[in-house]
Amino acid sequence: MRTIVFALIGASLATSAASAAPNVPAYVIDYAPLVALDKNEVLFPADIGKQLLNTIPKVNFTKVGEPLHPLTLNNLNQLNKFGNASVFLTAKEDVTDLAKEPSWVHGVKPNAQGETVGAVSCTIILRSHPDNSSVVDAFYFYFFSLNNGGYVLGVPKNFHVSDWENSVIRFVNGKPTEIFFSQHE
Ligand SMILES: *[C@@H]1O[C@H](CO)[C@@H](O)[C@H](O)[C@H]1NC(C)=O
Ligand SMILES: *[C@@H]1O[C@H](CO)[C@@H](O)[C@H](O)[C@H]1NC(C)=O
Ligand SMILES: *[C@@H]1O[C@H](CO)[C@@H](O)[C@H](O)[C@H]1NC(C)=O
Repeated sequence: MRTIVFALIGASLATSAASAAPNVPAYVIDYAPLVALDKNEVLFPADIGKQLLNTIPKVNFTKVGEPLHPLTLNNLNQLNKFGNASVFLTAKEDVTDLAKEPSWVHGVKPNAQGETVGAVSCTIILRSHPDNSSVVDAFYFYFFSLNNGGYVLGVPKNFHVSDWENSVIRFVNGKPTEIFFSQHE
């Protein structure tokens, strides 16, 4: 993605998110951020699971041995045996050549309701506080297939396959009290 202009607290994440995750408190969905993308955006949010189909795991630029099972989000941990910190899900195709870039890098353009139809492009991670049960931090992560950092003197800069952006809301007794906006170039 290129830029997220702003995010604000609102009340309209797809309701399917709530039904798909029964352990997520309703207030985490009710106050989920609405994300506005730049009007010139061309790299839209993408399906987290389908990204696996467009990549192969590599260590040190070398394809690792065949995983035991076709990779899914539920068995991705089978890659841990190839080294916990150094397995890269590497694009099968060249994503730095705009003339040949594969269509999947563009993700799914949100519809008028802000939904990426057919693509699960967001995940919520909750952090509770054992010393204070009234506090819950909700991390809202947005997934993009590709970060295009542009070109400097014709050299691709900061291209990376898969890109997570996030914002965090702290809830106290179910009420939003603080929001953190992740921001970078
Ligand atoms: C990566 O590959 C290079 C070239 O084969 C080799 O010199 C280097 O030791 C490798 N690094 C690791 C961490 O395996
Ligand atoms: C990866 O980390 C897990 C948990 O810390 C550890 O049990 C395992 O041995 C590690 N695997 C490798 C290949 O380093
Ligand atoms: C829990 O955190 C909230 C918000 O910071 C604070 O108002 C409250 O006093 C804390 N409760 C305890 C038991 O520490």
